[in-house]
Amino acid sequence: MDKKTKRTLVTCALPYANGPVHIGHLAGVYVPADIYVRYLRMRGEDVLYVCGSDEHGVPVTQRARKEGVTPQDVVDRYHNIIKDSFERFGIGFDIYSRTTSPTHHRFASDFFRKLYDEGRLQERTSMQYYDEEVQEFLTDRDIVGECPHCGNPDAYGNQCEKCGRDLSPEELINPRSKRSSSTPVLKETKNWYLPLNEYEQWLREWILEGHKEWRPNVYGQCKSWLDAGLQPRAMTRDLDWGIPVPVEGAEGKVLYVWFDAPIGYISNTKELCESNPERWGTWQKWWQDEDTRLIHFIGKDNIVFHCIIFPSMMRAHGGFIMPDNVPANEFLNLENDKISTSKGWAVWLHEYLEDFPGGQDVLRYVLTANAPETKDNNFTWRDFQDRNNSELVAIFGNFVNRAIVLTHKYFGGKVPAAGPLTDVDKEALGAIPALRESLERNIESFHFREALKDAMGIARIGNKYISDTEPWKVAKTDMDRCATILNVSLQICADLAIAFEPFTPFASARLKKMLCREDLVWDLLGSENIMAEGHKIAPAELLFAKIEDEAIEKQLRKLDEIRAEREAAAKAEAAKAVAPAKEECSFEDFEKMDIRTAVVLEAERVPKTDKLLKLTIDTGLDKRTIVSGIAEYYTPEQMLGREICILANLKPRTIKGIESRGMILMAKQGDGSMRFVTPEQVVNPGSQIG
Ligand code: 2FM
Ligand code: ZN
Repeated sequence: MDKKTKRTLVTCALPYANGPVHIGHLAGVYVPADIYVRYLRMRGEDVLYVCGSDEHGVPVTQRARKEGVTPQDVVDRYHNIIKDSFERFGIGFDIYSRTTSPTHHRFASDFFRKLYDEGRLQERTSMQYYDEEVQEFLTDRDIVGECPHCGNPDAYGNQCEKCGRDLSPEELINPRSKRSSSTPVLKETKNWYLPLNEYEQWLREWILEGHKEWRPNVYGQCKSWLDAGLQPRAMTRDLDWGIPVPVEGAEGKVLYVWFDAPIGYISNTKELCESNPERWGTWQKWWQDEDTRLIHFIGKDNIVFHCIIFPSMMRAHGGFIMPDNVPANEFLNLENDKISTSKGWAVWLHEYLEDFPGGQDVLRYVLTANAPETKDNNFTWRDFQDRNNSELVAIFGNFVNRAIVLTHKYFGGKVPAAGPLTDVDKEALGAIPALRESLERNIESFHFREALKDAMGIARIGNKYISDTEPWKVAKTDMDRCATILNVSLQICADLAIAFEPFTPFASARLKKMLCREDLVWDLLGSENIMAEGHKIAPAELLFAKIEDEAIEKQLRKLDEIRAEREAAAKAEAAKAVAPAKEECSFEDFEKMDIRTAVVLEAERVPKTDKLLKLTIDTGLDKRTIVSGIAEYYTPEQMLGREICILANLKPRTIKGIESRGMILMAKQGDGSMRFVTPEQVVNPGSQIG
């Protein structure tokens, strides 16, 4: 560990209370943090473990608007759902509070005021888009318009989802407000900025020189931000949901959510300390004493906020310690698609527990084994089933079950006496201290996947040992040898109960209970004779249950349904897209076009094409052929006798060897689908349109 200390403050990113938590949250932040905290506590360290809901910010207001309720309604609902999910998964924060709490509002407001009073913030005016109809400034996501790069008519003010480019709202062509569909106007507004550029040199030294041991993804992101040069960043926003800016003349403005949320770590600590000062001491001990190590567990999209902006805020304020490490994870995908709360593409924790009651450890195990530590990773239900059935059940559970059942069968549930150890016994037991060392090193350096492999390594040793030595056969001829084998097996069971506790705490607790050793502590891991001769153990209980195909198929069907709904919604959305306006044309240009009605006499598919129909039409002037790309939307039968409008004097073109004379007028929707333009009532073929 970096500092010689026995005090560690662990924070977990405060989840937005705009939806329930899902497996991506668990894999990226909360499971690794929980493994780390449980481990440190088992090593006897003093740890404070803080989290809470992030209840301000645009995601919350957007959800509220979508549901037609207030932001407070949204956060009240999701705060409780999220808190409950964490508790049920054994993520045991010492405090899980909320950024709408009075303690937090006061603390964040005072923090801002101190920076303001000491002249650490810059007051700046800028022009921002304002919706005159709803009378509010617009956030970047509330403005849409044409992308200047690819022409996507629905690019957002911060990003074009079609070409992926980052944008600023001023770059959009024909911007419109999503709040009212009106055209927003640029209006002057005043905000307060933290001059991040003034902290750049200090950040370079602290991170780039002082923390080369940070994960490459974290270090690399910091370096690229710093190399690009930091700019002052607004710490206030023109919004009505958040903590009011405590400055005269700032009515209608709130603290930037990324200013207030990380302060939530501190204010939540304060709330906890004040509720039980004997146990926790003062909040300053945790945040301002150099003997505390501070570790932030976050996802990769939060790196800049925790490594650049929050440290600069704390530096500007003065008196705070800096994080020792920020072990950020990459993202977890679900069945090869990006997890998304707004698109509903996720496995929600509360729903998971309904479908897999008691399945907390399985998910904790799979998410750790597959943790996105160095690159984005993928969760699949088949892998979940596989890891459960062929690792937890077939190796860990199977070994423990055999050891305990046979102890009851042959020795009345008492740890039998070990005779002289053979090479096989010594080899099995002798491999455990090295795995313990590796496990410790891996957890302490935030390599949780590797650490889990070490713990599983112990289970593999046990399982192989009992399979190779076959005590059920030995029992027929040599009870003393059988006793030794089961004694060794029970020692390994005790090792497993200890080693797995950070990863699968529920199974570990059950195993300790079966071994009647709820007192097993970390220091015993890999030591000799943990289970004393004659010690009575309890009957075997199932540690892990097999997951059948039907359970997995049910989950896959659920995802198929979400996918289908998403595609239908995307189609409907795309259909709404409006093509950009064309250049102006003169009346003379228009007059040149001979637009008139016609009737379809014959229709057939053009062979070897999917899209083309060959139509024979009566234009009033003549009977002629038109080839049209409408076969995806209309069958030849649907065309017969239909009244249509055509551009009759379009220069003839040859399409697939057929001369086409004219063009049918169609209304083309944003998703490419087409519909006929027809007169309101039947008119004679050849009636002119103009
Ligand atoms: O990305 C998020 O979900 C944010 N709510 C994380 C905030 S972390 C901290 F700063 F509070
Ligand atoms: Zn674009």
